Amino acid sequence: MFDTLPLAPPDPILGLGEAFNNDPREGKINLSVGVYKDEQGNTPILACVKEAERRLLEREKTKGYLSIEGLAEYDGRVQELLFGAGHEIVKSARAITAQTPGGTGSLRVAADFLKKHFPAARVWLSKPTWANHQAIFQAAGQATETYAYLDAAGTGLDFSAMRGALEKIPAGDVLLLHACCQNPTGIDPTPGQWREIAAICSQRGILPLVDFAYQGFGDGLEEDALGLRELASVNAELLVSSSFSKNFGLYCERVGALTVVTQSADAAQRALSQVRISIRTNYSNPPQHGGAIVAAVLSDAELRKQWEHELTAMRTRIHHMRRQFVESMRSKSPKFDFSFIQRQKGMFSFSGLTNMQVDELRTKHAVYIVAGGGRMNVAGMTTTNMPRLCDAIASVL
Ligand SMILES: Cc1ncc(COP(=O)(O)O)c(C=O)c1O
Repeated sequence: MFDTLPLAPPDPILGLGEAFNNDPREGKINLSVGVYKDEQGNTPILACVKEAERRLLEREKTKGYLSIEGLAEYDGRVQELLFGAGHEIVKSARAITAQTPGGTGSLRVAADFLKKHFPAARVWLSKPTWANHQAIFQAAGQATETYAYLDAAGTGLDFSAMRGALEKIPAGDVLLLHACCQNPTGIDPTPGQWREIAAICSQRGILPLVDFAYQGFGDGLEEDALGLRELASVNAELLVSSSFSKNFGLYCERVGALTVVTQSADAAQRALSQVRISIRTNYSNPPQHGGAIVAAVLSDAELRKQWEHELTAMRTRIHHMRRQFVESMRSKSPKFDFSFIQRQKGMFSFSGLTNMQVDELRTKHAVYIVAGGGRMNVAGMTTTNMPRLCDAIASVL
């Protein structure tokens, strides 16, 4: 049966990672992967996570199944992070949250839930967006469309084109928005633009689905939630997909959440009953470990403080690398303006480099970035590799 299966193409970004690993050249630089790296090039385990794990190991008495929606304490803490403790949405119980295997798991549960109950709804994705978005929604049988996002230079937001596109989306369709640190561009709407996006969704009856994979990597935990809270202030219904892969460094533990905000506590329970079915027929119930770590950290004042401190250190390092990159490029290639890199947010940036330049960087200089916009993982830059990186880029410009 399997002899004639067509060979699927490898994942383009993971394929680059493999090519990097097999590259024998010294001083090679990998800015293609989607994980945070410290100044030594490692993806560390946070100290607050290690401490939470130590406590959990001591306390744990069973490996019995969790409920379909996971740990109640975790689900509550996720809502507090999203909206702020004491927010009306949290207090009124008009939102439900389910613990999922990563942000990817929550997007797939959302896709199945939406496809089942709103089969005619199309999902609108920014052009460009995280490559897996289209694949996830299409795998669930959903039609996807794209809306304008990038400006002509490929380094900023073309908000008037975006607004024009959103104003044509029909009522009942789903609008996927990155809460912050847009992947792959690093380009986010301003607070004023968020207000306009929120108003358009509300006026047109569009359902926002907010992908929140980088809370705390942009400007801070609260600051990065501004767009979501703006949306929630005028849209009674919306969905949020959370991931703690990046901000807790819990990539392999697969910890995320799906939150459905509804108009009433009654509607929330209806939504939960249906989300449970989507989960039950997919992976039945979530793995415990990652969610238990996040709940333990967020529920303990001391661990929470430590987490915020460690998250701030990651964010500050990224800001610092952005600044160093811009300054270094200014001195090496004064004709070219890279100041937009400092305005972009989070781990990724669209460099504006062409596919030919991206190729040349890899073949001649062993510098790996992603084609189709020149996405760079800024967290892969270090003070040590910066001079070589900027020399390489200057030579291909
Ligand atoms: C925008 C976006 N959404 C969702 C995810 C998925 O995160 P997870 O690894 O938790 O599944 C990612 C991961 O790179 C992402 O960049």
